[in-house]
Amino acid sequence: MRLGQYELSSNLFLSPLAGYTNLPMRLTLRELGGLDWATTDLVNARSLLEENPRALQLIQTSPADRPLAVQLFGSVPAEMRAAAIQLEARGLASIDVNMGCPVRKVTKIGGGSAMMTELIKTADLVRGMVEAVKIPVTAKMRLGWDSENITAPDLARALEDAGVAAIFVHGRTRAQGFAGPVSLAGIRAVVEAVRHIPVIGNGDVTTPDAAKKMLDETGCAGVSIGRGAFYNPWIFRQTQHYLRTGELLLEPTFDERMGVMGRHFDLMIEVFGEELGCRMFRKIAAWYARRFGPAVDFRRRVVAIRSRADFSMAVAGYRAWRAQFCDEQGELRPKFQPPKLVASFLRTDPNQPAGIIPVPRGPIERW
Ligand SMILES: Cc1cc2nc3c(=O)[nH]c(=O)nc-3n(C[C@H](O)[C@H](O)[C@H](O)COP(=O)(O)O)c2cc1C
Repeated sequence: MRLGQYELSSNLFLSPLAGYTNLPMRLTLRELGGLDWATTDLVNARSLLEENPRALQLIQTSPADRPLAVQLFGSVPAEMRAAAIQLEARGLASIDVNMGCPVRKVTKIGGGSAMMTELIKTADLVRGMVEAVKIPVTAKMRLGWDSENITAPDLARALEDAGVAAIFVHGRTRAQGFAGPVSLAGIRAVVEAVRHIPVIGNGDVTTPDAAKKMLDETGCAGVSIGRGAFYNPWIFRQTQHYLRTGELLLEPTFDERMGVMGRHFDLMIEVFGEELGCRMFRKIAAWYARRFGPAVDFRRRVVAIRSRADFSMAVAGYRAWRAQFCDEQGELRPKFQPPKLVASFLRTDPNQPAGIIPVPRGPIERW
C-alpha cells in the first residue's frame, strides 16, 4: 500500500503504546517480519522543542528502524509546526498527530481526543504542519469523544482536505476508554468519509483472523496492531502470510521464542545500558513467559536480573527446570502446553483482571 510518497511492503502497522513501543521493541518486531511502518510513543511537541532528554529518548531510532513516524501531541499550532520541521530535519519518515489519547494530562491541554471536539481548529493546526514539511503527516483518532459525538468521519474528511496522508482510527470513543467492543461499523464510516487517502483500522486485533475480519468488514486499507504485538510478536509475519495465502503459519517453537527473547534482551541493553536495560526487561520477559508453558521458575529468576550474566543464568536454570515437563524429544507434554492465543487475552471487559499491558480503568473522568 502507499502512504504519502512511501510504497510499503506491508499494510500492517505497529500502534503506539506509550512506555512499550520503544526502539528495542520495534527492532525486535521488524526482524520477525511482516511489519514495515512503525510509530513512536506519543511525544509532547513542546518537550521536543525544549530538547527535553526524555522526549529525545522517545524519538531515538537507528537505520534498521525504518520507516519510522514520530507521534506528536500538543495543541499549540506554532509548536506542532516547529516540532514537525525539526523531525523532518532529523530524517524521520513521517509525523503522526495524536487525536485519540483519552488521558487527562493530554486532553486538558487540548491535545489527544480533545482535538476531536474542535474540527475546524484541529484541521487548521494540521494544515499548518502539512504546509511546513514535505514528509507525510497522518492523524490517529478514535471514533469521537463519546457515543453522542461521533466526529471521526467529519474530522477525517476535514483532515484529508487539510492534506494528511492517512488516518489511523481506533474503533472506540474516548468515553469507552479500552472497554467494550471495537466498532467495525464506526471504522467503516471513516473509510467511507474520505475520498482517496488510506484509512488504517485499529483495536483488539490479536490474531490473523481478526485482522482479516477488520479489513473485510470495514474496507480499511491496513490494520494497526498494538497490544496484540506484545502478546505475540510474530503477529505481523503470521498475519501477512495469512492475508496472502489463507494459511496459518505454525506457531514458533520454544527455542525460537527463547531466541527472540534473547535478541530483545540484547537490544534493550544496547539501547538503555546494562543496568536500566535489565530492570526494564524484567517486565518484558514476563510477556514471553506467558507462552513458554510452565514458567514459574523463570519468572522467579528473571525478576532479579541485574546483568547479562544474571540473564544467562536465569535462562540456563529455567531450561534445566523445564525439562521435567518435556518428553524425550524435548517437547512439552500435552497437558503442560500453554493456552492458545485468543482475543480475550486483552480482557477488555472491565470486570475481568487486567491483561499484561495495563490499561486505565475506572471512571474516565479520573484518568
Ligand atoms: C498502555 C497503552 C499506551 C498507549 N499509548 C498510546 C500512544 O502513545 N499513542 C496513541 O496514539 N495510542 C496509544 N495507545 C492506544 C493504542 O495505540 C491503540 O489504539 C489501542 O491500544 C487499541 O489497539 P490494540 O487493541 O491493538 O492495542 C495506548 C494504549 C495502551 C494500552
